[in-house]
Amino acid sequence: MDRQQISRLAHAHHPIAAPLADESVARLLDRALAGRESGRMLDLGCGEGSWLLRALAARPGWRAVGVDVDAAALTRAWESATTLGLVRRIGLHHQDVREFTAVGPFDLVLCVGATHAFDGLLPTLAAARELLAPGGLLLVGEGFWEREPSPAALDGLGAAREDFADLATTTDRVLADGWTPVYGHVSTVREWDDYEFSWTGSLAEWALDHPDHPDAAAAREAADRHRAEWLHGYRGTLGFVTYLLRRD
Ligand SMILES: C[S@@+](CC[C@H](N)C(=O)[O-])C[C@H]1O[C@@H](n2cnc3c(N)ncnc32)[C@H](O)[C@@H]1O
Repeated sequence: MDRQQISRLAHAHHPIAAPLADESVARLLDRALAGRESGRMLDLGCGEGSWLLRALAARPGWRAVGVDVDAAALTRAWESATTLGLVRRIGLHHQDVREFTAVGPFDLVLCVGATHAFDGLLPTLAAARELLAPGGLLLVGEGFWEREPSPAALDGLGAAREDFADLATTTDRVLADGWTPVYGHVSTVREWDDYEFSWTGSLAEWALDHPDHPDAAAAREAADRHRAEWLHGYRGTLGFVTYLLRRD
């Protein structure tokens, strides 16, 4: 069972592939798009397009572009856009974000939970800088250490200590790179727990519902392993911050 199929099943009840509740997503989008009747937004690593679709649904003057390497996720994004009547305002590109060359600048660039595609936060900021219109905003979601990671936390995440820093240091790096956080959201323990129980629960439930499927055992194993890595490893250690940034 490949990672994209696991991710699709795991996100069945939590379409945003990051530890953010619907209210948090709505608040961040409201702040990002406040006061702008129209514009263009770009989501780098858009997955199923959940951020873009939510943003477009309530804002008829906006258009959107999404880029992702997961063809099946983009197909679902397109199906959702069709259902919501948004296909005329969204373009979806099956492409590596590092190779994406856009036409024209964007008023809002998003990259939530996908900074690894650029090898980290600072290269993501550098890429976004090239894509933003003057006065444009960047919404970027990134991990950080809530506390010093234990070996079990690092094992569970398949991460190295230096992959992340604490929130203050992460924010200092953003500032030093010439950005100002004009808003932000730190995911709560409740959002994390909801996300992880939804991820593991949806996948395990699918395995229980499809006992004769050739992938059932692999799905169950993936759900059980992920749950153990979270509960015995990184719960309370890995944090997630979503910054709304402006260039200085
Ligand atoms: C954790 S998901 C986040 C999806 C979405 N931003 C959201 O918040 O719901 C990360 C996404 O990044 C995509 N991705 C990873 N590496 C990529 C790359 N090099 N180019 C394009 N997309 C990539 C994955 O396919 C996946 O859809």
